[in-house]
Amino acid sequence: MIDPFGRSISYLRVSVTDRCDFRCTYCMAEDMTFLPKKDLLTLEELDRLCSAFIAKGVRKLRITGGEPLVRRNVMQFFRAMSRHLASGALEELTLTTNGSQLEKHAAELAECGVKRINVSVDTLDPAKFKEITRWGDLATVLKGIKAAQAAGLKIKINAVALKDFNEHEIPDLMRWAHGEGMDLTLIETMPLGEIDIDRTDQYLPLSKVRADLARQFTLTESSHRTGGPARYLSVAETGGRLGLITPLTHNFCESCNRVRLTCTGTLYMCLGQDDAADLRAPLRSSESDDLLHAAIDEAVGRKPKGHDFVIERRGETAAVPRHMSMTGG
Ligand code: 5AD
Ligand code: SF4
Repeated sequence: MIDPFGRSISYLRVSVTDRCDFRCTYCMAEDMTFLPKKDLLTLEELDRLCSAFIAKGVRKLRITGGEPLVRRNVMQFFRAMSRHLASGALEELTLTTNGSQLEKHAAELAECGVKRINVSVDTLDPAKFKEITRWGDLATVLKGIKAAQAAGLKIKINAVALKDFNEHEIPDLMRWAHGEGMDLTLIETMPLGEIDIDRTDQYLPLSKVRADLARQFTLTESSHRTGGPARYLSVAETGGRLGLITPLTHNFCESCNRVRLTCTGTLYMCLGQDDAADLRAPLRSSESDDLLHAAIDEAVGRKPKGHDFVIERRGETAAVPRHMSMTGG
């Protein structure tokens, strides 16, 4: 699949649920309305959709949410997708998780051929963790991480950089992650969906984080790339890698290789644009996949050039109305 700007689309991110057992303040309002369960695609339908994308050239599949591991019977879906790894059609099956259910599922994920996962941890202070996630428990997440390590999964920690929240804790987060043999990627807040607070108050440019870190650590630009938006720095003192995702200070759209599927079968060609294609209708209207393939081609054929996120003016509404938990980080 090649889009109008010559980018090859080989990466599908699938949000299997918009629900989550946390309510991170930068992600969700406390009182969220979720999709009625009847609007969700079944796991069998998600399988058919993902398999169609794989037939069309997707080589990497990331399961996201909301929190993907709170979807009922989600491990059945991982099992089903692992057949594409076994056949060689799929190169990588991965997961982005908040870690709350990881202790239970880590071993089975590894059995299904998952090799690497991303776990979100914004702070190592239990009280602050509770504050930022509203409902989360740090100890449970850390147990999940241990279980994943024991199962042989490679872990990347994602942390959203937040002004006056974890700004001064980033060196400690990095020492911890690198000390445990995990990469750390920092993410700037993106204006996705209405939340209860003003994002201008949370926004911390990573250019500033990097300048602060450079006073304590020797940072060198690394040539490491994962095909994603992160740029990596090698940290001499820890021997680890620090990823920076800077949607607001740096535009990474030129090399975008991905599209995003929601749990209702809507395909978003860009995280930062509203345009979407409904794949549920072509999926349900025929037993054969011809209509579905045509709908996917048509959608990829109008993938936009890029996003236009800006967090500048105070009180500005979200750049796109849907939350990250809808489209999947
Ligand atoms: N801006 C930046 N990152 C976000 N995440 C969720 N919502 C936002 C947002 N508005 C992060 C989560 C997780 C990853 C999937 O996306 O913390 O690490
Ligand atoms: Fe849940 Fe992730 Fe959103 Fe936090 S950031 S509320 S863990 S989906």
